[in-house]
Amino acid sequence: MWLQKHNLINLNETTFVTMLFKFIILLLCTTLVLSQDDAQDFPDQDLDIDSEKISTNEDLNSPDVEVEEIPYNTPQPIGNTYLAEHFDDREDFQKKWIPSEAKKEGTDENIAKYDGKWAVEEAERNGLKGDLGLVLKSKAHHHAIAARLDKPFLFDNKPFILQYEVRFQNGQECGGAYLKLLSQVPDMDLRTFRDKTPYTLMFGPDKCGNDHKLHFIFRHRNPKNGSFEEKHWKRTTAVPKFDDVFKDKKPHLFTLIINPDNKFEVLMDKHSVHKGNMLEDFNPPVNPEPEMDDPNDVKPADWDEREKIPHPTATKPDDWDEDAPRQIVDPNARKPEGWLDDELELIPDPNAEKPADWDDEMDGEWEPPLINNPKCEKIGCGKWKAPMIDNPKYKGKWRAPLIDNPNYKGKWKPKRIPNPHYFEDKYPYKMTPVAAVGFELWSMVDGIMFDNIIITDDLYVAEHWASETFDLKRELADRETDNMITRLFKYTNKNPWLWAVYLVVIGLPVVLFISFCCTTTRSPAVIAAQRDIENRRKAYASKTFAGQTEEKAREVPKEATITEVKEEEEEEEVPEEEVELLDNEKNESREEEKQTAEEGDEEKVTDEEEEEEVMGNQESDATGDFPRRRRLRKD
Ligand SMILES: *[C@@H]1O[C@H](CO)[C@@H](O)[C@H](O)[C@H]1NC(C)=O
Repeated sequence: MWLQKHNLINLNETTFVTMLFKFIILLLCTTLVLSQDDAQDFPDQDLDIDSEKISTNEDLNSPDVEVEEIPYNTPQPIGNTYLAEHFDDREDFQKKWIPSEAKKEGTDENIAKYDGKWAVEEAERNGLKGDLGLVLKSKAHHHAIAARLDKPFLFDNKPFILQYEVRFQNGQECGGAYLKLLSQVPDMDLRTFRDKTPYTLMFGPDKCGNDHKLHFIFRHRNPKNGSFEEKHWKRTTAVPKFDDVFKDKKPHLFTLIINPDNKFEVLMDKHSVHKGNMLEDFNPPVNPEPEMDDPNDVKPADWDEREKIPHPTATKPDDWDEDAPRQIVDPNARKPEGWLDDELELIPDPNAEKPADWDDEMDGEWEPPLINNPKCEKIGCGKWKAPMIDNPKYKGKWRAPLIDNPNYKGKWKPKRIPNPHYFEDKYPYKMTPVAAVGFELWSMVDGIMFDNIIITDDLYVAEHWASETFDLKRELADRETDNMITRLFKYTNKNPWLWAVYLVVIGLPVVLFISFCCTTTRSPAVIAAQRDIENRRKAYASKTFAGQTEEKAREVPKEATITEVKEEEEEEEVPEEEVELLDNEKNESREEEKQTAEEGDEEKVTDEEEEEEVMGNQESDATGDFPRRRRLRKD
């Protein structure tokens, strides 16, 4: 009886805990739903929201994703800049940005013109309201557009910071999105901007097929003869997660910082990609080798590069027969007894029949197909030949043994002479001043959006600029892809009172669970029951199973866990014959289910405690199992 009673208590505990968990899940779901349209129900102080406008806006742009609006104001740089272009002012853009009227040399005449279209417009989807950007509009066309800096940037003794945003709104298959900083020249005319226009540096993403690059190229002036050479950053392809830039359709921020001490840093989405030095991380290197191979030096005719030579006086031994064949006929082989010399190896198939539709006139005379002669299977037939074996006298061609070459002089190398083109430029940072920026691009996919180009000598100015532009955009874009948990977390951080709700909702059941279970586990009744079960198990195991299983049974820990105790107690009620069935896992669970239902019934019948009964009812009603099981029982 005490056991039954204990079972009842146990059942109700489980019911209660299940209910609490259901309650928690319900609450979490409610919170999630709230977090999705909190704009309406919980207006946030930082967000000035007009809910009606949002929904219409979102319906147009992305009907399937609800994204709340983030207010955007055209940014203002907070310090010295050489260019700060947000593209929000169409009139200003028309004045400043000059589309190229040039042609690209050395390409097919049909596509040589830089006639790809540019537009200033809002993002195709999920952009900030009122935020315009420069968009490359034509597929498979050359595009070129440029704008003068407010003032030229001189690479003297201040840091150079370039930062801009790229968003591949339609992804990318083959095409660039890099920015060129055009060198200052007299009478600069941006209408002639093309591939050959001299630039000082080039920075930004580029992709074709599986080739993804983050370019950083600068043109270095040879101080000896004044010619320029492109220096390519060595890490263009070693940028982590760079592939995503071309796929995720989100805005990405690229930052290049070059300091007067030649140290530079590349950042993507505000994370450092690489810190390097202009003197070390470029190909070809800025400074040539001080020495070089003498191009006029030639290898002397008598220079002996052979490390080993054949022994000069060694001779072939007299008994060395170079002509002995590698294989000979086995002299000891004998024709096996019973070999049938006169039998053919293949015979016409005696069981084959001429097909009914065979026409001798048309198909020729019919012949049965050949099969292996069954008489040959045992020993063999036909002409007998002795097998070949390796010739023990075979030696091959004689060669003199090798010895060290006394005249060996080592590998010949040309003389090293001073490099006549040598120079040492200690400050490659001091590049040609830049007076304009330009995009000169080919792209197979349209919709590349550029925004918020800034050139400054103060990193803080660039960071602040990003905080008013990129950060907002990125948050908006991320909301689309945030998973439920991240969303919940972000929402809760905005509404900290929710933490208190979670604490109560999650904390309360945990406390209850612990208090229930711990007291139960400690009760002497359970310990007694455990011992009893253990003894029965041992007895059963020694009766039924081999030694191995018995050992396992003995291993059952004294301090069984709560679930184990439950299972074992249920086992207790099962008659011995049924125990064997329990070995099968499926049977076990079915058995358990049945039992639970029975116990539920008994509980109803005993009608012990009102509260418990109510709970049992609720649980059963909720699952819809209770009435069905009752009927089964009556049957
Ligand atoms: C300048 O020197 C480099 C080698 O250092 C050479 O490659 C280049 O052709 C030279 N340019 C001119 C204009 O002589």
